[in-house]
Amino acid sequence: MPVAWRRLWCDPVADRPDSTVPARAFRSLLVTGGAGFIGSAYVRDVLARRDGTRITVLDKLTYAGNEANLAPVRADDELAERFRFIRGDIADPDVVRPLVAEADAVVNFAAESHVDRSILDPEAFLVTGVIGVHVLLEACRTAPAAPRFLQVSTDEVYGSVDEGHAREDAPLAPRSPYAAAKAAGELLVHSYVITHGIDAVITRGSNTYGPYHHPEKLIPLFITNAIDDRPLPLYGDGLQRRDWLYVGDHAAGVDYVLRHGASGDTYNLPGGTEQTNVDTVRMLLERLGKPWSLVRRVEDRPGHDRRYAMDGSKIAALGWSPRMSFGQGLAETVDWYLANEAWWRATRSGDWDAYYERQYGPRLRSAG
Ligand code: NAD
Ligand code: TYD
Repeated sequence: MPVAWRRLWCDPVADRPDSTVPARAFRSLLVTGGAGFIGSAYVRDVLARRDGTRITVLDKLTYAGNEANLAPVRADDELAERFRFIRGDIADPDVVRPLVAEADAVVNFAAESHVDRSILDPEAFLVTGVIGVHVLLEACRTAPAAPRFLQVSTDEVYGSVDEGHAREDAPLAPRSPYAAAKAAGELLVHSYVITHGIDAVITRGSNTYGPYHHPEKLIPLFITNAIDDRPLPLYGDGLQRRDWLYVGDHAAGVDYVLRHGASGDTYNLPGGTEQTNVDTVRMLLERLGKPWSLVRRVEDRPGHDRRYAMDGSKIAALGWSPRMSFGQGLAETVDWYLANEAWWRATRSGDWDAYYERQYGPRLRSAG
């Protein structure tokens, strides 16, 4: 067993002795979207941490899904024996129903996850985020063993939080098609809890970063472009603020809420690391030893949320908080991309060049 990656991925999922609610044990998990960035971290963590747990991953393998993210599981005989991968769509009831029927918990990471793509092509966001969630909920409602359902949601459902920190009872005010689809998914979950009494919980994680992140979002895009000395397209004034959550912490928070969360409840998972995009870019360039002159100020994203910020007192009272500092997490992330060029270069296939030109071509050319 490659001990190094086990150590890297296991630590955050450690049991917390300070929990206020006794842990529930789940032995058969269905993890949807488990070949993506956060879902695959969750699968790697939980299989390595919990000896008796079996995991089935259901993933459509869209442009963002990547079976290579699960290679460490396949390379380990003991983990591979408790793991199964099925390629399929959460919006397809014939695929979903039998898989949910044999699970004692369903953890739904599956989604289209990039705001910029939701502005260009929103339809897939709605199909997966609304129809797909509904198919999963129907399957949970009718499954004989009444599995627990965890919906992985996002701080973006609060919209831009100009002051203070959003608590779980703040109104939903999504401002992008991505965030609107995620909010709609949450509302469906609530409706099934209230109307049908299913056992469900929701997590709202903040902006997540770390290894195995498809290089379309700010941090992995800027690291990989900077490695190649390509321009870094910074939107607007770059003073938008994000609260960064390390991927291992996000996976751990989801696991914690699955096992300790009260049925019907929603839990914020903040990173506690809020800072401007300009500062984030400065830090990653410093780690790479690359110059600020790579940055191009380009036309802003339409409807760009200025700030995300969540209150973490509810999850803290339950006994969980993130562990990774932003400085250390970003340094580890930069180093991972430097050491894993084959992984990220392979993700720049398929529609990548066409997407990049559509998203950035005119902006970069008009920025000069
Ligand atoms: P990702 O884009 O890396 O992965 C999404 C995965 O879902 C991919 O493997 C994809 O193939 C799969 N998928 C998409 N549509 C599917 C469908 N119809 N059926 C089955 N599988 C499908 O996303 P991520 O960053 O890992 O995000 C995972 C979840 O966490 C999402 O629900 C997202 O909204 C949420 N989230 C993400 C962040 C973040 O910063 N990345 C923050 C908070 C919450
Ligand atoms: P992103 O990683 O897309 O996450 P989200 O939009 O969900 O917060 O973007 C993070 C921040 O970085 C956001 O303020 C938009 C900004 N950004 C850029 O300035 N340039 C880019 O090329 C991208 C992808 C994002």
